[in-house]
Amino acid sequence: MTDARSTAPYAPSFPQDRTCPYHPPAAYPELAERGPVGRMTLYDGRQVWAVTGHAEARALLADRRLSADRKNPSFPVVLARFANQAELDIPLLGVDDPEHARQRRMLIPSFGLKRIAAMRPAIQAIVDGVIDAMLERGPEAELLSAFALPVPSMVICRLLGVPYADHEFFESRSRALLTAPTAAESNAAREELKDYLHHLVAAKEAHPGDGLLDELIADRLGTGELDREELALLAMILLVAGHETTSNMITLGTYTLLEHPGQLAALRADPALMPGAVEELMRYLSIADGMVRVATEDIEIGGHTIRAGDGVLLPTSAINRDPGVYADPGALDVRRVARHHVAFGYGVHQCLGQNLARAEMEIALTTLFARIPTLRLAVAPDEVPIKPGDTLQGLYALPVTW
Ligand code: HEM
Repeated sequence: MTDARSTAPYAPSFPQDRTCPYHPPAAYPELAERGPVGRMTLYDGRQVWAVTGHAEARALLADRRLSADRKNPSFPVVLARFANQAELDIPLLGVDDPEHARQRRMLIPSFGLKRIAAMRPAIQAIVDGVIDAMLERGPEAELLSAFALPVPSMVICRLLGVPYADHEFFESRSRALLTAPTAAESNAAREELKDYLHHLVAAKEAHPGDGLLDELIADRLGTGELDREELALLAMILLVAGHETTSNMITLGTYTLLEHPGQLAALRADPALMPGAVEELMRYLSIADGMVRVATEDIEIGGHTIRAGDGVLLPTSAINRDPGVYADPGALDVRRVARHHVAFGYGVHQCLGQNLARAEMEIALTTLFARIPTLRLAVAPDEVPIKPGDTLQGLYALPVTW
């Protein structure tokens, strides 16, 4: 007798909550074991391809037959809050070349290695100042609000030329945009952010300041390469991506190192390991755990045919633990060469802010553990509140003491 469950195609649901903050959700190991290209089921019942193989994921992310265009009517809606994504203008992440390349070209110099290396002293000063304030209030803190959020928030404000005094406003609206349960609430937050940035651009046109937005106003607005709406949308994506992502990495990275004392001791003994450790933490934590695309033509991959119009999901936490690429992938190893992970994506949409994110993580983690050698969790490890699978992965709070 055939068991219906065993004949039904295996297509676990997406998204899935993590039960341990640094391990992929429970269904991913089986999904990956069944093959590099499988299926997952979205909240509205639609099935999409789920790519867990590292080679297959990189091949697809570099393939022009996969589109990031949210306005394509076949583009999968992976969360209810993105239900009306086709009506929104989402620059960079939501458009294909050549429009994507045109937008990206205007921003690349500001995020290149040279410009970010020049920002390091400023990042260090921000980290030192935030730690000073935390130590003054100590000997305990909630690390996300006291350290991991203010640092990237202050850094992206400085880079863009956004006043940090407005941080409570833009942090709360960014959070609502990314986590609200409904599209109406997410879009309302988006509109408020966009209005704020329109006003900021107008104020800067009258009184120029010192930042990327000021440069774009001076160099691109007058020439017609950018209009005010596109500038506000680009500013919004940079402001949101610039603080929400890195704050989760610093919080979760700290928790993960505290939970791996041998690895932390190795890092403390040899701070030169930190750049490699940051790459390994990126791989291991894979906080942006689900890139999405739609096929515009048929594509043969991993023994399957992805048809034009099919949705494709790329869960980074599964891809970054492909045992064919990383030995003992479930172990954190700060000495590992973790290069080629896809935690920053791959292909034309690969993270624009990756040099900045790396510099912030290196400086934040190095300084935190050097200046507070007795740093430890203030609660049991299984009591830290984990963010759900439908948003960037991380912790809602990280109570620490020293
Ligand atoms: C550790 C923190 C970060 C992680 C894990 C991360 C992750 C990612 C990923 C996975 C993508 C590709 C998405 C896709 O292909 O669908 C991406 C794109 C992007 N990221 Fe990041 N990111 C981080 C930090 C930042 C920072 C600090 C900025 C600064 C502004 C930034 C700005 C962007 C932008 C603008 C894109 C779109 C690029 C494009 O479409 O050409 N990110 N990021």
